[in-house]
Amino acid sequence: MDITEIKKSALTEIEKAKSAEELEKIRIFYLGRQDGKLTAVLRSLKDLPIGKRREIGPKAQALKRELENFLEEKLKKFQVPSSKLQVDLTAPGKRFRRGHLHPLTLVDREIRRIFLSMNFSVVEGPEVETEYYNFDALNIPPNHPAREAWDTFWIKRNPNLRIHPNDPNKKLRGIRINSDFSDRLLLRTHTSPVQIRYMEKHTPPFQIIAPGRCFRYEATDISHETNFYQVEGLMVGKNITLSNFKFVIEEFLKRFFSGQKIEFRYRSGYFPFVEPGVEVDIKFKGKWLEVIPAGMVHPRVFEYAHYNPHDWQGFAFGAGLNRLAMIKYNIPDIRLFNSGDLRFIHQF
Ligand code: FA5
Repeated sequence: MDITEIKKSALTEIEKAKSAEELEKIRIFYLGRQDGKLTAVLRSLKDLPIGKRREIGPKAQALKRELENFLEEKLKKFQVPSSKLQVDLTAPGKRFRRGHLHPLTLVDREIRRIFLSMNFSVVEGPEVETEYYNFDALNIPPNHPAREAWDTFWIKRNPNLRIHPNDPNKKLRGIRINSDFSDRLLLRTHTSPVQIRYMEKHTPPFQIIAPGRCFRYEATDISHETNFYQVEGLMVGKNITLSNFKFVIEEFLKRFFSGQKIEFRYRSGYFPFVEPGVEVDIKFKGKWLEVIPAGMVHPRVFEYAHYNPHDWQGFAFGAGLNRLAMIKYNIPDIRLFNSGDLRFIHQF
């Protein structure tokens, strides 16, 4: 086929083509890289005498461009604009998998929301604590039997990481701790150390909550985990009494369990850092469950925080967040929270 023949037949065929597939066949027949007719002409140019080459070369190149443009133009006719694509409304839908928030996250957010609306601030403290903040400053000295209530994960201290002698906290530790152990590190067994950390840096009146992770070296069962969450609460002012605590906690319970009927009771309790101490139990599956221990801040604790206990009064509480979640969502076993089982998470 010479170049005139190619031009004639290619243009007619493109003109007549009825589908994108046909166009593609035509393109391959004339312009295909392997055996396209026009490609063959272009390829043979190098063997032609120079005069012929000058004559045919530009024509063949021009035809190549012409065919490509024509093919492209024609192809557009067969392409349906996306706006005209037909949608089959009866086709079964594609299912989107939705992510779910962990129930502890839901409860944590809800608790923050409620307390923020009651003008509390949300603060946080470290999960790796010193023995001083976790125990001593909370009026639990080294050999106090109350320490046994908090089975502790101790952390081996790297001797190169000793606290610097000029660390301002060193002074605090000097108040009444003469043992060498007061710098020991541990995983905090409760959120109460945040009380001390906050009071060291702020002057009353204030009201805070401190949600966070706690750790205890104890056997697990349906209501005990080695890793769980608490929400600490602390309100300090001139005339704070246990009635303020009752009001705040009952308002909290009402909003947190909105619409859900719960039964709760106050019971006296003991913690070295409060006097008097109380426990709020909530009935769950027919049994009383200890959920919110609390009390009036012990004067000794104020002293550790450098407050004059004659000037200030306050209440503190340490609610078990997992247990609040269990009651709210009717979760039978605390170990489900950390199970990583998606069937559990997907229910929330
Ligand atoms: C305390 O930890 C005190 N710091 C609470 C407190 C704060 C009292 C301020 C007074 C003033 P207790 O050990 O009882 O107390 O723990 C508090 C709550 O945390 C318990 O009622 C329970 O709901 C939860 N809790 C304690 N241990 C575990 C555990 N192993 N697994 C799950 N929840 C736990």
